[in-house]
Amino acid sequence: MPLRRVHLAALALACLWGGGAHGEPARNERVEALIAQMTLEEKVGQLNMVSFVPTHETSFEPIAKGLKDGTIGGLFNVHGLETARRMQERAGESRLKIPLFLALDVVHGYRAIFPTPLAQAASFDMEAIRRAERIAASEATADGVNMLLTPMLDVTRDARWGRVVEGVGESAFLASRIAEARVAGVQGDGLRAKDAAVACVKHFGANGAVEGGRDYTAADLSERAIRETYLPPFQAAVDAGARCMMAAFNAPDGVPSIANPRLLTDILRGEWGFGGVVMSDFEAIDELLAHGYAADQRDAARLAFAAGAEIDMQSSAYAQELPNLVRNGVVKEAALDAAVRRVLTLKAELGLFDDPMRGAGPDAPAGPPAAENMAAAQALAEQSFVLLKNEKRVLPFSPDIRKLALIGPLGNSPADTLGPWAGRGEPEETVTLKMGLERRLGPDVEVAFTPGGTTDGSRDEEIAAAVESARDADMVVLALGERFDQSGEGSSRADLELAGDQMKLATAVLALGKPTVAVIFAGRPLVLTELAAKAPAILYAWQPGSMGGTALARTLTGDVNPSGRLPMTFPRAVGQVPIHHDMRPTGRPFDPEDPYTTGYRDEAYTPLYPFGFGLGYADFSYNAPKLDRAALRDGETAVASVVVANTGKRAGTTVVQLYVRPKLARIARPAKELRGFVRVTLQPGEARTVEMAVTPETFAYWRSAQAYGATAGPVEIMTGPNAEELKSTTVDYRP
Ligand code: BGC
Repeated sequence: MPLRRVHLAALALACLWGGGAHGEPARNERVEALIAQMTLEEKVGQLNMVSFVPTHETSFEPIAKGLKDGTIGGLFNVHGLETARRMQERAGESRLKIPLFLALDVVHGYRAIFPTPLAQAASFDMEAIRRAERIAASEATADGVNMLLTPMLDVTRDARWGRVVEGVGESAFLASRIAEARVAGVQGDGLRAKDAAVACVKHFGANGAVEGGRDYTAADLSERAIRETYLPPFQAAVDAGARCMMAAFNAPDGVPSIANPRLLTDILRGEWGFGGVVMSDFEAIDELLAHGYAADQRDAARLAFAAGAEIDMQSSAYAQELPNLVRNGVVKEAALDAAVRRVLTLKAELGLFDDPMRGAGPDAPAGPPAAENMAAAQALAEQSFVLLKNEKRVLPFSPDIRKLALIGPLGNSPADTLGPWAGRGEPEETVTLKMGLERRLGPDVEVAFTPGGTTDGSRDEEIAAAVESARDADMVVLALGERFDQSGEGSSRADLELAGDQMKLATAVLALGKPTVAVIFAGRPLVLTELAAKAPAILYAWQPGSMGGTALARTLTGDVNPSGRLPMTFPRAVGQVPIHHDMRPTGRPFDPEDPYTTGYRDEAYTPLYPFGFGLGYADFSYNAPKLDRAALRDGETAVASVVVANTGKRAGTTVVQLYVRPKLARIARPAKELRGFVRVTLQPGEARTVEMAVTPETFAYWRSAQAYGATAGPVEIMTGPNAEELKSTTVDYRP
């Protein structure tokens, strides 16, 4: 049997608990000397982060003044090396010459745009994700950026929320592994390296726990839900060394995260020993008024500062109010000094005092992104595509095709191929599906492109033209889904079907009965129930980034065998949302024969596609897992092994997944929770035994005693290729 290895990722969950020091930074002489000289306004200036883009009443005049008099400590949204240099030079003209944090939302690449974060999660490839962040950080730091407002680690279970595109999917375990990979990528081997940047992890709290899919809202959550579902990736990020934490906008327990001392101080610093800085989200301190939580801006500044937030992004509440709060004795100057110390220590860690540009320049890197960065973006895109359906092996394309009809509003749209938050990615440098197909298929194959309308709607003649184009084609590719701005911040949707008349367009084309694949560009899980009933093949492309068209063409033609797996459950209907693999059981589990069990009158209980699902051009068989012991005690590790074989005709990759369920617990546990995964590539006919570690921490949960632990008794260990097709065994936990 080739290569046996124990996959230890499951063990990392052990780090969920365990306290630590309060994260006070070690004293640095240079920092102390500065603090000793600073006026109150200069101190508060270090806590003031301002958007460079003239938004609201902000324009460059006040910024120039703030830089000169030392009342701005950081800027975000500064694009380009020249501007970065000018801003640092201006800060260098202030009395104490303190350099600036220059921050930017680098969400899935800076120049070379990678697939969106949710798409990256579908790769289940942590090394590729780390590498993507490493490249993004090296490109951004070459332009003078020293802080990336990333990774976004909101666990998401509600596809109506537009921001699922930025997130890490529905599993706290997968999210935590992604957190480690992305922080390691952004911060590299240490912040002194000029191509490393501060990772400002967001949005700390339970930002993904939205209500009704609406932005900025919060469901009412138990401490258990916060601890088990939403906080693990943030703790993993802290353990991985993240140096900045952006508090969430929302108020999961009625206390907005930015003014929540339990979150920002007790848990983050007290329990986890976080030593970095806490930043507000955009104007979130002022938003305490709209929450009805603060009486006025002064009250808002006081509450956020007391809760443990060092940096005020954009609301100017600190700049306006903190100096007087100190003068009046409401805020102690020692507390202000401690906050300033954290900020200046981080600037020192970045080497900003020695060189504010950290070696960037003198000239901006010219031309398109480096070829190897684009190649990495392409490779990750290829790993992120999820083949949802492939009836009669419509894919890969037959080598005999001579005319391909590419139909749909997203077939040749660079901006929609890049997706939201596309950094400094340029549409002109983006390979669309049309371009990718033309290049890959060459002059012998005609690629006829017909948009068939837009994602807002189609006229009858546009649909008729699309049908005509498909009539004499040997292969049809439908390019459907969402525009880049139909997901992302401010883009929640109440309807998750294909927007506009896309289903009408697809139905008309599919009626021809041609070999057809629907390639879906989207930032979120869409409801594909009708399409899945009609289309023989569906490839989920997400928003694949700069090299998306090349990666898609290689996948459709079979150069690449799709291996992505769904990081979120796909519902059959929007009414099923929120739906996720780790739902709690009920006293009346679903039984199709009995209406008085959980479920719907008008819709199936199961999702359309489960979490972890994805097909490929190979086939795999999975044996039932075997454990190396019948009982497990504290401090011990059981090894679950599962034999996986490639029974298909070509090499392929499958993601072996491990789920657990304590069968008996005093807190009812979800019917299954992902707690391990391994990507395995097998040649045709090859079989491999994959081993995964299981410890008591693997199935521990937040107990009523306000601590993590597990209950004695049988624990079901399930393995398989997705959250539905599982085989199981049991281990007896005896603490
Ligand atoms: C978003 C953050 C982002 C910030 C700055 C906010 O609206 O919630 O994710 O980092 O803007 O652009």
